Amino acid sequence: MSTNKKAVLTLADGKSVEFPVLSGSVGPEVADIRALYGKTGMFTYDPGFLSTASCSSKITYIDGDEGVLLYRGYPIEQLAENCNFLEVCYLLLNGELPNQKEKDEFSTTVMRHTMVHDQLTRFFTGFRRDAHPMAVLVGVVGALSAFYHDSLDINNPEHRNISAFRLVAKLPTIVAMTYKYSVGQPFVYPRNDLSYSANFMRMMFAVPTEEYKINEVLVRALDRIFILHADHEQNASTSTVRQSGSSGANPFACIAAGIACLWGPAHGGANEACLNMLEEIGDVSKVGEFIKKVKDKNSNVKLMGFGHRVYKNYDPRAKLMRDTCHEVLNELGLHDDRLFKLAIALEKIALEDDYFVQRKLYPNVDFYSGIVQRALGIPVAMFTCIFALARTVGWIAQWNEMISDPENKIARPRQLYIGNPRRDVQPSGKR
Ligand code: CMC
Repeated sequence: MSTNKKAVLTLADGKSVEFPVLSGSVGPEVADIRALYGKTGMFTYDPGFLSTASCSSKITYIDGDEGVLLYRGYPIEQLAENCNFLEVCYLLLNGELPNQKEKDEFSTTVMRHTMVHDQLTRFFTGFRRDAHPMAVLVGVVGALSAFYHDSLDINNPEHRNISAFRLVAKLPTIVAMTYKYSVGQPFVYPRNDLSYSANFMRMMFAVPTEEYKINEVLVRALDRIFILHADHEQNASTSTVRQSGSSGANPFACIAAGIACLWGPAHGGANEACLNMLEEIGDVSKVGEFIKKVKDKNSNVKLMGFGHRVYKNYDPRAKLMRDTCHEVLNELGLHDDRLFKLAIALEKIALEDDYFVQRKLYPNVDFYSGIVQRALGIPVAMFTCIFALARTVGWIAQWNEMISDPENKIARPRQLYIGNPRRDVQPSGKR
């Protein structure tokens, strides 16, 4: 929304240029600098988007200083307490929480799309069994666009809708197949009479030789992991999905691009890196020594699961994840879990240390999610796939919002060129 305010840029020659100031429903105001180049011949320089809003959005709001996260206006704590993951999916995709009828219809439609084309199952055998599951996931999700030609017209809202259902429904099946392939077990077909998360746990852990028993505490914990990871406004992978989609690429290809971006250790790979870090520290007695290394600028060691570009306060998802961690460890009789104890000790020391206090570094969602996933029996290498599964709904909601936005343009950043100015090619003997 535009305001009466103007942002004024004064140039070296004393000339001033005015820009409109826009306000959102909450959060900081934004200087609309789209006309900057036209008015001054200058670009802004903002690598890493430290001060740049790349779009407007109605989906997710974060107040990083206060540690607030809202999906469509609802606090994450209330959603985690009162809703299941599919209700949150409905909310992110449609803007409102579903009533009972809408919830039932939505769940039925999602669960009816859980199977994948049978030929897709053969893609897995092309991969080595020791491939990283994220490598397999990027490939197989990208391949979906070769199977579902009937929903690729991005300008058709019906097509976008069916693609959204397909992606939300099939990701658990594909992630579970990725795991089963890596351990050499047969794929387990989805069971549509189960809840979304119970079905996923069964596809991950059931074997044909035994009956699989659903543990509702563990299912609820997994569902909460999905809720907490469902969206997080314009993070690196979501921006990747939007950027890919801005060219008109199909949703399956865009989500595959998002998965590739998520894989990095600074983003979705952090839960895996965090658990590996805890294993490496090994014991509470080694925490002091490790913190020393983290603070040493030359060591290149980071405290994984700490710090966030936006949160300069406790990540609200980390609090919920710590509670879930307690619940799961209690349910499994693992109150004395070595890594959980280590994580608590590490968190306490870091929160009291000047280095972390001054830089406003607090635990993020990944600090505890790895411990929960490990307790659920999910192997470390699969952690980022779980994140991708959960984030798919956020990616698709953001992609859909972008396509429907009349202000949408192909994303085409500019640059500050610091290479050689024009020069002439010399014959090879003179170079
Ligand atoms: N351990 C030690 N020092 C840190 C850490 C950390 N985890 N995070 C930031 N710092 C320091 C950093 O070295 C810098 O110090 P200085 O001012 O002396 O140079 C200062 O804090 C500011 O950090 P930054 O790198 O400018 O912050 P950023 O906003 O660019 O990076 C981050 C954010 C998440 C990439 C970073 O905090 C990090 O690498 N954390 C560890 C990885 C992690 O847990 N990632 C998960 C993020 S949450 C899940 C998700 O959304 O994907």
